[in-house]
Amino acid sequence: MRFSEEFEKRYAEMVGHYPTKRSILVPSLLYAQDEVGYLSDEVIAELAKRTELTELEVRNVISYYSMLRTKPAGKYNVQVCTNISCLIRGGEEIYDHCKKKLGIGHKQVTADGMFSLEEVECIGACSWAPAMQVNYDFHENLTIAKMDKILEEYKQKA
Ligand code: FES
Repeated sequence: MRFSEEFEKRYAEMVGHYPTKRSILVPSLLYAQDEVGYLSDEVIAELAKRTELTELEVRNVISYYSMLRTKPAGKYNVQVCTNISCLIRGGEEIYDHCKKKLGIGHKQVTADGMFSLEEVECIGACSWAPAMQVNYDFHENLTIAKMDKILEEYKQKA
């Protein structure tokens, strides 16, 4: 398995900053996911080898973090928070609206591959609840009308 030069540069830099090889697993998984789109069997095998862990150990770590995925996501991965602050301020209604609008459920991808949807725990934007994250962009103080507008903007961008 070959990663890009940029990945290898980051990886080499990280190796020097962490006390053990296993410590670089999570950031390596994130960089690999950004590069490949998801954590394929090949990626898992490669990072297990590099960090001197078993593939099972790597998979256990992946299953713990909701932002890590072993299947391809849509071009825009919509993560709607329904944790307590967002829940109180309508997060669940926003999430239900997204499910209907996109025609998909949790961790599913639209047929055209444009959107994937996830219901997630707190994303650290409680003060501006209800909130969601699309790829690395945050959207806060959501309403159903605002959500429709945001999804439309992503469609136009694609
Ligand atoms: S509970 Fe939704 S961002 Fe914290």
